[in-house]
Amino acid sequence: MTDFDQRYIAARRAVIAADLRRLNPMQRQAAMTTEGPLLLLAGAGSGKTTVLIQRVYNLLTYGRGSDSSDVPPWAAEEDLAFLESFPQRPDEYQVERARRLCAVDVPRPWEILAITFTNKAAGELKDRLAARLGPVANDVWASTFHSACVRILRRDIDRLGFDKDFTIYDTDDSRRVIRDIVKELNLDEKAFQPKTILSIISAAKDNYESPAAFAKKHEGENDWKLSRIAKVYERYAQKLRAANALDFDDLIYHTVTLLQREPEVLAYYQNKFRYVLVDEYQDTNHLQYLLTGLLAGGRRNLCVVGDDDQSIYRFRGANIENILSFEK
Ligand SMILES: Nc1ncnc2c1ncn2[C@@H]1O[C@H](COP(=O)(O)OP(=O)(O)OP(=O)(O)O)[C@@H](O)[C@H]1O
Ligand SMILES: [Mg+2]
Repeated sequence: MTDFDQRYIAARRAVIAADLRRLNPMQRQAAMTTEGPLLLLAGAGSGKTTVLIQRVYNLLTYGRGSDSSDVPPWAAEEDLAFLESFPQRPDEYQVERARRLCAVDVPRPWEILAITFTNKAAGELKDRLAARLGPVANDVWASTFHSACVRILRRDIDRLGFDKDFTIYDTDDSRRVIRDIVKELNLDEKAFQPKTILSIISAAKDNYESPAAFAKKHEGENDWKLSRIAKVYERYAQKLRAANALDFDDLIYHTVTLLQREPEVLAYYQNKFRYVLVDEYQDTNHLQYLLTGLLAGGRRNLCVVGDDDQSIYRFRGANIENILSFEK
């Protein structure tokens, strides 16, 4: 690398860092590490979501400029001199020029996926992105896992034999279906409460266990009740399919199946989402972990942020090379 290139890269980093000066040094490092997998662990209220928001701002302004050793072939001595003497209080023109000189492969907003588990956290992400970025934020895929899956499924679920106008069942709908099945199978309605059965089915789906896999797992155990529940699970899946309906867990379960089974669909999203960010990672389950791995599996530009928590350990085994943590 030439002396010019080294200086250009350093000056570019310094200008971007100055633009992110409101972050503390660890936060800034996290916002500027744009490429490759990154796990960010920090305590409650320590500024984790702030990092995600600033990271999206950094990506949409400078692309991988803060994390790249590419120097544009057109960069001239006067450009370098400009970056190296960049003022603390730049005017509009200087800001504009610095952005042009520092930007490398800036993604388009819809190439960024920012997801989280709860509606509350997703609402916060959307609001804070809008406040930081303005109208451009509307084109970032910022949502819950569930809404992202609905969008993905509406486009391609016909490949799994559902119609694209599928219905989404809420808990009451699901309980009604389970109640019917319990009757049809002549099971004792007291011993087979819909609520309990649904939570067992939900746990099976979290583990990405199909009805067949669930039945097989419990067949040798001589557990009569679980073998009956396996039957209920099987019928439940059949009935929902016949009604062209998905429950909340199915939204993610079927998206994982779609991405695993259909290489074209997988390639489309892996190519589309250049950057994947997950907030409140400690709340995600195994199924969402599988989904995240599939969606981010192409470019591997995945940033997960969470409270230091047991569930994070799963990620430690999952090829995450960069781990940063910080305190307030
Ligand atoms: N470097 C910083 N300097 C000053 N204030 C900051 C900094 N980072 C974050 N804050 C402020 O601290 C508060 C909490 O930040 P934030 O919501 O990002 O934390 P969090 O870790 O995501 O919280 P939670 O655990 O609730 O998800 C916010 O008001 C935010 O603006
Ligand atoms: Mg937060």
